[in-house]
Amino acid sequence: MPEAAAPGHARFAGRVAFVTGAGRGIGEAVVRTLYAHGASVFATDIDGEAVTALAARLAEEARAARPDGTPPPGRFLPRRLDVADPDAVRAAVADAVAELGPVDILVNVAGVLHTGPATAVDDAAWDRLFAVNAGGVFHTARELAPAMAERGRGSIVTVASDAAGVPRVGMAAYAASKAAATMFTKCLGLEYARSGVRCNVVAPGSTDTAMQRSLWEDDSVPHRVLEGDPGRYRNAIPLGRIADPADVADAVAFLASDEARHITMQQLYVDGGASLR
Ligand SMILES: NC(=O)c1ccc[n+]([C@@H]2O[C@H](COP(=O)([O-])OP(=O)(O)OC[C@H]3O[C@@H](n4cnc5c(N)ncnc54)[C@H](O)[C@@H]3O)[C@@H](O)[C@H]2O)c1
Repeated sequence: MPEAAAPGHARFAGRVAFVTGAGRGIGEAVVRTLYAHGASVFATDIDGEAVTALAARLAEEARAARPDGTPPPGRFLPRRLDVADPDAVRAAVADAVAELGPVDILVNVAGVLHTGPATAVDDAAWDRLFAVNAGGVFHTARELAPAMAERGRGSIVTVASDAAGVPRVGMAAYAASKAAATMFTKCLGLEYARSGVRCNVVAPGSTDTAMQRSLWEDDSVPHRVLEGDPGRYRNAIPLGRIADPADVADAVAFLASDEARHITMQQLYVDGGASLR
């Protein structure tokens, strides 16, 4: 029998989460959601100042929400980490376990974007896309999945992209790196299924973050994202809105939680229906 889900805000009480790319955007929304539901969070990002500032904001928000001084149920530790560096990932995982205990949940959010015609991508951009978007997922999973298997439980969620499954003009290298991350996560899920470790993918569509806005070269772009762009073979968003980071974080939290206990190797599109799947 699965463990009973903890009630209310304590959905992740006693759980330890390791999150990459936590400094802003979708990663920030993920750590906020897990922390708000009781998890202890090891929040990492290549931008160390961003996660340190986030930790300070969360501490301030917790103080305001609990004027009697009751501590929040989980802890929140920020850490600078480049997921493309395997030695740094190994060291960060060791520190996370030493500080917070065995990791129950891994969420891979760290990602970089590079756009341009498929045959005009230079070697450095190709290598960095794969080192971060695919290599980062490999590095964290390699450090964390075996220990999860030894304990007989764990959940790994990779935030990939709808572009991993839907061809996009100007996104060949990015989409290929996200497809690699997606299939690595699914194969990992197959190999680790009998050990009680579930591995799933969240595939966001257009989500309002700094990365998304870097694609908006003029004021007409948000309209074209919503209504579609036939010149780029791009669908409209049927639900009629660009996602908030919290929309993606809620899907991540579901897959990370015991409520998804019989779900593994799945790819959940959070795209307002744009991929028409
Ligand atoms: N925003 C979108 O529309 C969208 C759509 C589909 C997929 N995604 C994916 O969702 C994830 C989060 O995207 P976002 O929109 O919040 O992006 P963002 O650029 O706003 O945030 C990405 C975070 O990852 C961090 N990061 C970058 N390289 C890193 C590295 N080597 N090691 C550790 N951290 C690193 C950045 O510092 C940043 O804090 C990414 O993987 C992105 O590819 C985003």
